[in-house]
Amino acid sequence: MKILFVCLGNICRSPTAEAVFRQIFAQAGIAASFDSAGTADYHVGELSDPRSIAHAERRGYIMEHLGRQVTRADFDLFDLVLAMDRSNHRHLLRLVQDSGQDAGQAPSVHSKLHLVTEILNDPEIKEVPDPYYGGAQEFEHVLDLLERCAQAWCEKFAP
Ligand code: 4NP
Repeated sequence: MKILFVCLGNICRSPTAEAVFRQIFAQAGIAASFDSAGTADYHVGELSDPRSIAHAERRGYIMEHLGRQVTRADFDLFDLVLAMDRSNHRHLLRLVQDSGQDAGQAPSVHSKLHLVTEILNDPEIKEVPDPYYGGAQEFEHVLDLLERCAQAWCEKFAP
C-alpha cells in the first residue's frame, strides 16, 4: 500500500499527514509507504514549515520531507491519493482529467482519489483546514484531525 498526501504548499498539512500516518500504521503493524506533495510549486525542495515541524515533534512525529509538486504520474505510482481539502481535491481531479489519459482508466484513477477526512464520516468535518496563516491552535487542530484520520484509515486496512 502506497499512500500520497496532497495539500497546497506541501510544507504544513501533507508532510504532517505523512509523518502521523507513518507512525500510526507502523504501530498497528500495517505495511505501507507514505509520501506527500503540493498542488503548487511555491516550496519545492524546502523543508516543512518550522511551526509544523515543532508541533509534530512535541507529539513524537519526525518530519524530514522536502517539498515537491504533485504530477499526473503520481496516480500511477500510488494506490491512494488523499487530498487535505476540497480545493486540493478539485485540483487533482483536473490534473487527471486534463492529462487526457483517464479515458478507459478513469475508474481506477478516480477510485484512488479521496479527501483524507471522508473516512471519518462526520458531517461536521469536511476537510483539514490550512493552518499557514493561523497560529498554534490551527497547527494543533491539524494534528488532532490527522491523528483521527490515520486511526480510521488504519482500521480500514487492518487485517
Ligand atoms: P499547506 O499550507 O498547503 O498545508 O502546506 C500552505 C503552505 C504555504 C502556502 C499556503 C498554504 N503558501 O501560500 O505559501
